[in-house]
Amino acid sequence: MKPQIIATTRIYERTQERLDREFHCHRLYEAKDRAATLKELAHRVRALATFGGGGADAAMMDALPELEIISNFGVGVDAIDLVAAKQRGIIVTNTPDVLNDCVADTAFALALNVMRKFPQAEQYLRSGYWATRGPYPLTTALDGKTMGILGLGRIGEAIAKRAIAFGMKVRYHNRRKKDAPYPYDPDPAALAKNADVLVVVTPGGAETDRLVNAKVLDALGPQGYLVNIARGSVVDEPVLLGYLQQGKIAGAGLDVFADEPRVPAEFLALDNAVLLPHVGSATVETRTAMGNLQVDNLLRHFAGKPVLTRVV
Ligand code: 8YV
Repeated sequence: MKPQIIATTRIYERTQERLDREFHCHRLYEAKDRAATLKELAHRVRALATFGGGGADAAMMDALPELEIISNFGVGVDAIDLVAAKQRGIIVTNTPDVLNDCVADTAFALALNVMRKFPQAEQYLRSGYWATRGPYPLTTALDGKTMGILGLGRIGEAIAKRAIAFGMKVRYHNRRKKDAPYPYDPDPAALAKNADVLVVVTPGGAETDRLVNAKVLDALGPQGYLVNIARGSVVDEPVLLGYLQQGKIAGAGLDVFADEPRVPAEFLALDNAVLLPHVGSATVETRTAMGNLQVDNLLRHFAGKPVLTRVV
């Protein structure tokens, strides 16, 4: 008998295929009556497979008293109530490292695109303006500028490597100074003040909620750029919108938003923002590796072995 598990939201199809091969996987997101389905499965299901924003709260854990493990597809576990999981002795796993390079590429693409305005320049060509209006206006160089990394973890390190390769200087802020070859700033505003482009790479959740606020954006200033590939919750989104509209910062490259997939319409009208639909890790290679790690954690748990990438 294969172990029974629940997939809470739609998962990358290759991963879903593997989940179906290894387990009896119930798709909760297809259930007509979610509460009734949870009740029916309550004493059969020992594992949850979660994906991104569709996490697991305490009520979900209470509805599944046999739950032993929540295996998340994604490094960020802010949508899972970790305190509730810990209290109930439920293991939580994530998918770190395998996505570092793709997410760092996305951060760097956003920095390049917002500073060099490549999307707008391409639109200019496509609109036929090159021939009729002349060359596209000059933009801002990255070389020689300072990238401030807010959250120098594994992804932050991969972004820093790229910045150095592009001739930039790197500084960072973490809650604790670490052994890193880059200057440390004691708080986000100090980092923003010293940076030409501030890249947000912190985890989401209550501890970082609106960490990038008016004070930090004021410190970044009218020549400064913001890139966010972390979570929308880390930036005060209405404040950021106002700062972009009023030119109080130079521009923003955003892969994440406060209420995905809903993006406030006002952002779409901005010429100084580059907007992506949360594609940081979205390549076949990386998503396959993330899914494999998610499934491997479940398999190891059911084989009585320690999981590979435990958060709680
Ligand atoms: C995922 C992410 O695409 O890993 C994360 O935390 O934000 C992305 O890589 C998303 O969470 C879906 O699981």
